[in-house]
Amino acid sequence: MKALVLAGGTGTRLRPFSHSMPKQLIPIANKPVLEHVLSGIKDLGVTEIGLIVGDREPDIVDALGDGAGLGLSLTYLRQDAPRGLAHAVQVARGFLGDDDFVMYLGDNMLPDGVVEAAEQFRTHRPAAQVVVQKVADPRAFGVAELDADGRVTRLVEKPQEPRSDLAMIGVYFFTSAVHEAVDSIEPSARGELEITDAVQWLVARGSEVRATEYTGYWKDTGRVEDVLDCNRQLLDQLVRSVDGEVDEESVLIGPVSVAPGARIVRSFIEGPAVIGPGSVIEDSNVGPHTSIGGDVTLSSTHISYSIALDGASVSGVHAVHGSVIGRSAAVSSGDLVTRRHRLVVGDHTRIEVAA
Ligand code: TTP
Repeated sequence: MKALVLAGGTGTRLRPFSHSMPKQLIPIANKPVLEHVLSGIKDLGVTEIGLIVGDREPDIVDALGDGAGLGLSLTYLRQDAPRGLAHAVQVARGFLGDDDFVMYLGDNMLPDGVVEAAEQFRTHRPAAQVVVQKVADPRAFGVAELDADGRVTRLVEKPQEPRSDLAMIGVYFFTSAVHEAVDSIEPSARGELEITDAVQWLVARGSEVRATEYTGYWKDTGRVEDVLDCNRQLLDQLVRSVDGEVDEESVLIGPVSVAPGARIVRSFIEGPAVIGPGSVIEDSNVGPHTSIGGDVTLSSTHISYSIALDGASVSGVHAVHGSVIGRSAAVSSGDLVTRRHRLVVGDHTRIEVAA
C-alpha cells in the first residue's frame, strides 16, 4: 500500500501564517503537523508516500527532504492550483499506479491513529473505506449514511438536513477503483473536484464502500483556534525531559520538556509545556499548554495556552493567553507612561488588546 498526503491548498482560514508558510508546517507541540501526519502513516507500515504540494513546495521540501530522516520515501507531486481533493488523486495517478493507497489530508490530526481502519480495509478490500466520526453539527461536513454492517449507502456533502451524524474526516483508503470515479465526476458548485462525489459515484455504481468510526481525538487544524486546541491535546501526552539549562531560581512543575541548548533563568514553568532548542526564558511565567519553539526569547512575560514559533520574542507582556506568535515576530510592552499601543500589524493579522 502507498500513501497520498495532501499538502497543497490555500490555507485561507489560517492567515496570516499561511501568507508566509504552508499551513501543514505549523508546529503542534513543536513538531510540524505534516510530521505528525507522516508518523501516523508510518504506523500503518506504509513508507512510500506521495505528497501533493502547491506553490509552497520549496518550504515543504526544505522541511522534509526525501523523507529518509523519517524512514520514509517521499515523492513530491505538484498540483497547479487547489482544484479539489479528487483532482489531487488525478495528479497522483502516475505515482499511485494500480496500488491500494491511503489518502490523508496534510492538515488533519488523528493522534490516536487509524490502524483499525487500515486493518478493516486490508481484510475486506472494499473500493473505498472512509473514516468517520460523530459530530454535533454534520451540516458542515461530507456525511455518510451506513447500513447495519458498516457499509456506506449514501454520502452527501454539507447536507441541509443530515440523515446521519457521521462526518467523513481526513483519511480515506482506496483501491485503484477510485481512478475511474475521479475521472467521471464534474466540478462542484465551488469549482472543485470533490472526493465526496467520487466516493458517492462508487456507491451509486454498486461498489462496496465501508466506514470505520474513529472515536479518538480528531482535529482539522485549519484555524488558529484548532491549532491551539490540538496543541493542548498533544501536550497532555507530554513526558518530562529536561536537557537544557535551568538555574537554581527557576521552578518547573509537571511535564515540562526543555530541549538541549535552551536556558531557563529565574522563571516558573508549569507543564505541560515544551521549550525548543536555543530559547532563553528569563523572569517569566510559562504554561500550562504552551509550546515555545526554537531560538525564542521571553523576558518578564507571562504566557499560557499559546504557541510561539521559532525566533519569536516577547518581553514585558503579562497575560498572553490563547495566542500564536509567528516566526521572528516581536511583542513587547508599550510606553507605560502614556499607555499607548504601538502596532505594526501585518495583513490578515488579529490582535486583541485589553484596554
Ligand atoms: P482544505 O483545508 O479543505 O483547503 P485549503 O487548504 O484551501 O484551506 P482553506 O479552506 O482555509 O482555504 O484542504 C484540506 C487539505 O488538503 C489541506 O492540507 C490542503 C489540501 N488540499 C490540496 O492539497 N489540494 C487541493 O486541491 C485542496 C482543495 C486541498
